[in-house]
Amino acid sequence: MIRNMNSYPLYDDGEHRVYWLGIEEAEDEKGILTNQYLVIDGNEGALIEPGGFFVFSRVLKNVSSLIPPTQIRYLMYSHQDPDVVAGLNLWFEYAPLAKVAVSKLWVRFIPHMAVLSAGRTIGIPDKGTEFKLGNSVIKAIPSHYLHSPGNFSFYDEKSGILFSTDIGAAAFPEGEWYLFVEDFEEHVKLMEGFHQRYMSSTKALRAWVRSVRKLNPKVIAPQHGAIFRDENVGKFLDWLESLEVGIDVFEKEFYGD
Ligand SMILES: [Fe+2]
Ligand SMILES: [Fe+2]
Repeated sequence: MIRNMNSYPLYDDGEHRVYWLGIEEAEDEKGILTNQYLVIDGNEGALIEPGGFFVFSRVLKNVSSLIPPTQIRYLMYSHQDPDVVAGLNLWFEYAPLAKVAVSKLWVRFIPHMAVLSAGRTIGIPDKGTEFKLGNSVIKAIPSHYLHSPGNFSFYDEKSGILFSTDIGAAAFPEGEWYLFVEDFEEHVKLMEGFHQRYMSSTKALRAWVRSVRKLNPKVIAPQHGAIFRDENVGKFLDWLESLEVGIDVFEKEFYGD
């Protein structure tokens, strides 16, 4: 059951705060459900996966209740899909001081969406980088080929929350939704098909799991579906490690023997 919901705090130590940015029932009919997140440190904000056109008014409303959009320093995009970037022109207007962070592979593609993007885009190198937000650091973690060839997860060091882009995405059937994974085995049924078809490479997926284990995140928050916390973080990483995806699954189907 989907009901309108405003932002929900994932972390708050007084100085540093992280929020999931809500949902509206009507979104279910318009397109795949998406998650947006806001990290605030002191008086600076970073909007993670700002989202597409039809979620913009909801995200803006919920961001504005937490921090003036003029204090958003970064618009952080894991990759170039429409459900991630399509609201960019609107964000440029409402968050005039924000810089766009996106893989360097997409820097020359972004101007096709936003005429004003020249000089406002930070191209993240393939190996990743660090962004300073107030007194905190958000790391861009390479997630290439999962699924875009230039793809990053974002790790908020202070909260231990990993924003995992489409990795961990669940496609809910219409009318179904929940914020946190409770029954992992049931939740796998909503993730499996998505990962097999949208993720490109088993090798890339296993490399990502290895790098994420070193970070030891407390929470994994994907761009679609539900959030993993507590023992479900480990269960999720174990499941990914055993999964075959992309061309390894579909080679025969696409190209025959
Ligand atoms: Fe995507
Ligand atoms: Fe997505």
